[in-house]
Amino acid sequence: MNEQLKREEGIHGPHWNEVHGGYFSSPAIAAPLIRKIQELANQSKTDRIIDLGGGTGFLLSQLATADIRPNISLVNLDQSTPQLEAAKPTGFSCVHGSIDSFSRPDVGPLDGHFLFMMRSVLHYFGKNGLRPVLRHLRAQVKPGEFFVHQTASFSRPEEADCLNLLYQLMRTPKWYPTLEFLCTCLSTEGWRVREVLPAAPLTLTSGDLRHRYHLEPREILEIRDRLSQCPGVSEAVFKTTNNGFCAYLHYSIYVCTPLVSG
Ligand SMILES: C[S@@+](CC[C@H](N)C(=O)[O-])C[C@H]1O[C@@H](n2cnc3c(N)ncnc32)[C@H](O)[C@@H]1O
Repeated sequence: MNEQLKREEGIHGPHWNEVHGGYFSSPAIAAPLIRKIQELANQSKTDRIIDLGGGTGFLLSQLATADIRPNISLVNLDQSTPQLEAAKPTGFSCVHGSIDSFSRPDVGPLDGHFLFMMRSVLHYFGKNGLRPVLRHLRAQVKPGEFFVHQTASFSRPEEADCLNLLYQLMRTPKWYPTLEFLCTCLSTEGWRVREVLPAAPLTLTSGDLRHRYHLEPREILEIRDRLSQCPGVSEAVFKTTNNGFCAYLHYSIYVCTPLVSG
C-alpha cells in the first residue's frame, strides 16, 4: 500500500462511515451519482459495474437496492486492506489492487460489458498522476462502455489553488483540478465528456482534518491564517472559525465514454 493510504489507515475500515459528517455513507448525497449509473447501466449492455476505490462498498450497496438489472455483477476494487475488510459483509466481489495498475482481466471477463464508476478518488493521484491514471483507465475500457466519476473540482483557479495549498500544508500530495482542466485532461487522454452534473459539496472541518492527517493545534491555526489570505476565495470554499476553519470540496459528476478514433 502506498504511504498516503498508510497515513490514513486510522480512519479506514469500520470508522469510515462517520468521516466528514457521514458524507460517504449518506444515501441522499449519493443519490445523483447512483441515479445516473442506474440509468446508464439499464439502457446499455452493461453486465458488470466496477467501483474503483470503492472503499467499504457503500455505493455498491446503494446500487444493489436501486432498480438495476439483476444480471449486473458488482465489483469493488480498492488498495486499502481495512476498507476491503469492512466491505466483506456486503458480499460483493472485492479486488485488492491499484487503479493505476490493475488490468481488465482482474475485474471481470474480457468479453464483458463494464461500467467503471469512481467517487472521490482522482485527487489521490496528485497533479502529476492525474493524466497517467486517466490514460491507464482508458486502456482498460472498450468502446460502448462508461466511466462515471464524481470528482472534487473547482469552477475557478483561485478556489482550486486555495484547496491545493491546504493539502500541501497538511503534507499530502492530493491535488484538485478546476473543472476546465479536468475536462481537458480527460479529452487529451482519450475520453469524451458527455455530461457534467452537480453533486453535494463536502464540508472539511479543521477538527476532522486534524484527526485525519495527524496535525497539531498550532498547525491548524497556522493553516487558517495562511489560507485566509488566499485572494478571490469565497466563503463557499473556505472560511475561518474561532478555533480553526472550514473548507468545502465542490464535486461534479463526469459521465465519460472512450473517444474512438477514425
Ligand atoms: C475518499 S475514499 C472514497 C470511497 C468511496 N469511493 C466512496 O465514495 O464512498 C477514497 C478511496 O479510494 C481508495 N484509493 C485511493 N487510492 C487508490 C488506488 N491507487 N487504488 C485503489 N484504491 C485507492 C482508498 O483506499 C479509499 O477507499
